[in-house]
Amino acid sequence: MNLLDHLVSEHREAESLIDKIADTDPGPERTRLLDELAEALHTHMKVEEQFLYPLAREVLSDDDEVEEGNNEHETAREVLDRMYEIKDEPGFAGALDMLKAGLVHHHGDEEEDLFPVLREKAGDRIDRLDPEKLEEFVGLTREELYDKAQAAGVEGRSDMTRDELSRALAEDG
Ligand SMILES: [Fe+2]
Ligand SMILES: [Fe+2]
Repeated sequence: MNLLDHLVSEHREAESLIDKIADTDPGPERTRLLDELAEALHTHMKVEEQFLYPLAREVLSDDDEVEEGNNEHETAREVLDRMYEIKDEPGFAGALDMLKAGLVHHHGDEEEDLFPVLREKAGDRIDRLDPEKLEEFVGLTREELYDKAQAAGVEGRSDMTRDELSRALAEDG
């Protein structure tokens, strides 16, 4: 699946997971769903920050969309942390509503503004990015990525940072 379509489907999954959490009482089921949501969101945001946003910075005329995206991710991380702190307390539902409202807004920005421009200006490069590989790369250290770059024969790998290695590997297909 194309990376942008994959990210859009993850937006819908996160929103429906939040609705499921809203139906829970304090306890193990709420914690399990919260863990599932946190893991999905953290991976999703890292993939965007490490692969999609840098590409957007290259092809867009200004950085506003990307800066807004990064700030909204930071807010989502803060609200998630807060939700863990109060997961068994009154007020949890309010934090969950905040997370949902923030995400719905952020997903709207990405789907209506950022992604269409990227499809138009960098469609070929995006088609070469395999979502499953990107999810694997965001969990790897520089050393692990370097070994993969060596195996793939990526040129200039010795001078690359962790993120540069992961991007070179990703665009290598
Ligand atoms: Fe997203
Ligand atoms: Fe995002």
